Amino acid sequence: MDKLVIEGGRRIDGEVNVSGSKNGLLAVMPATILAPGVYHLTNTPNLRDVYTMSRLFNSMGAFCELNDNDLFIDTTNMNSYEAPYEFVKMMRASINVLCPLLSRFGQAKVSLPGGCAFGQRPIDLHLKGLEKLGAEVKVESGYIHVKADRLKGAKFHFDVSSVGATENLLTAAVTAKGTSHFTNAALEPEVTALARMLVKMGAKIDGIGTTHLEIEGVDELKPIDEEIIPDRIEAATFLIAAAMTKGDIHLKNTNPYHMTAVLSKLEDAGCVIDVTGESIKLEMKEEIKPVNIKTATYPGFPTDVQAQWIALMTCAAGTAKVTDTIYGTRFHHVPELIRLGAQIDVNGDTATVHGGKKLQGTTVMSSDLRASASLILAGLVAEGRTDVLRVYHIDRGYEAIEKKLTALGADIRREEAEELV
Ligand code: UD1
Repeated sequence: MDKLVIEGGRRIDGEVNVSGSKNGLLAVMPATILAPGVYHLTNTPNLRDVYTMSRLFNSMGAFCELNDNDLFIDTTNMNSYEAPYEFVKMMRASINVLCPLLSRFGQAKVSLPGGCAFGQRPIDLHLKGLEKLGAEVKVESGYIHVKADRLKGAKFHFDVSSVGATENLLTAAVTAKGTSHFTNAALEPEVTALARMLVKMGAKIDGIGTTHLEIEGVDELKPIDEEIIPDRIEAATFLIAAAMTKGDIHLKNTNPYHMTAVLSKLEDAGCVIDVTGESIKLEMKEEIKPVNIKTATYPGFPTDVQAQWIALMTCAAGTAKVTDTIYGTRFHHVPELIRLGAQIDVNGDTATVHGGKKLQGTTVMSSDLRASASLILAGLVAEGRTDVLRVYHIDRGYEAIEKKLTALGADIRREEAEELV
């Protein structure tokens, strides 16, 4: 197992290219199952989750090849409708193949995802939506089995705004017979990007970018080429790294419109931000001000930046409250930040961060992707050496993080770590 070793105290300074969005790609890849053929996806991030999805595709008879940041997918010879546990347990987003497989093969068998590091993550909406669209849904021996010769358009209201359920059910409704109406659909940029891709493939979707999607099913879709949108979470993490180290950063290949909540909170914390086209510059000269945040669905503050915000607030001159309304128990990074010297109390879905205590380097353990990011951020400002163990979590969602941070002036390296298990 690898670890990251960070010598704290260096300023983040310079230019960095933001990678393509992990979650954007994990939404788009399953859609390629819908129409057999060859797809060329550009701006694809080189990440463990992408390799996992590619291996799942290959196991089902498709062909995926990732060259640098170009992903070629050929779904012509797909011959299986089963996503086994070995893949789904590594990556929950594998559930997104459920509807495309059903649409293509008339049936699908996908492992139940199970729990995850930040609590229960139900998939009831995915299944209820499919039933509304006329599928027969059974859950047996840890697997979801769905069947339908052809789905039928239906009205479906999402009781909770869900990114994954909206994406999955969109890929079901586009080839259903008749019209579907989805209300309280998720608005996240990754959902919108998927809807736009489906339209390029020949789908008929009205209301893209709103919570009410009207989908008129079509008989056939066609393969296309697509560019993956920039990763707004990676971008936010780099901005926070610069803010914490009183740095000066220039992000390229971003979409600032996807990040307004984070940018506005960073300004509240005292950062000077300049946005031009696809570039974001951030400079931090003053003391970091404490700023409360509450995560929310898009365009609110993303839950995927909550852990990094807590890391930032450990350096603030005062106390800030960080509330996660999406995943109320997503605080596994807190005990590790406390080991680095942070003062944080968690009560229910809120962490109270008493900033200004100087962090001291030590060994800490990653528990999930964004938690790992927060520990690396803390390591950048901690006095002395911080070892972040189990960085396979970070490799799921951050492309070449140590290389990018080194180029920005950090002292960070990857080493092999021996761990007793
Ligand atoms: C996606 C993102 C993840 C992000 C999350 C919230 C991907 C691959 N992952 O996850 O990084 O943290 O959105 O922005 O894109 N819910 C239900 N029933 C369901 C589905 C969800 O109750 O059937 C609830 C969840 O428990 C959660 C909320 O809805 O409280 C939002 O979850 P959802 O948007 O579905 O998250 P994911 O799509 O799994």
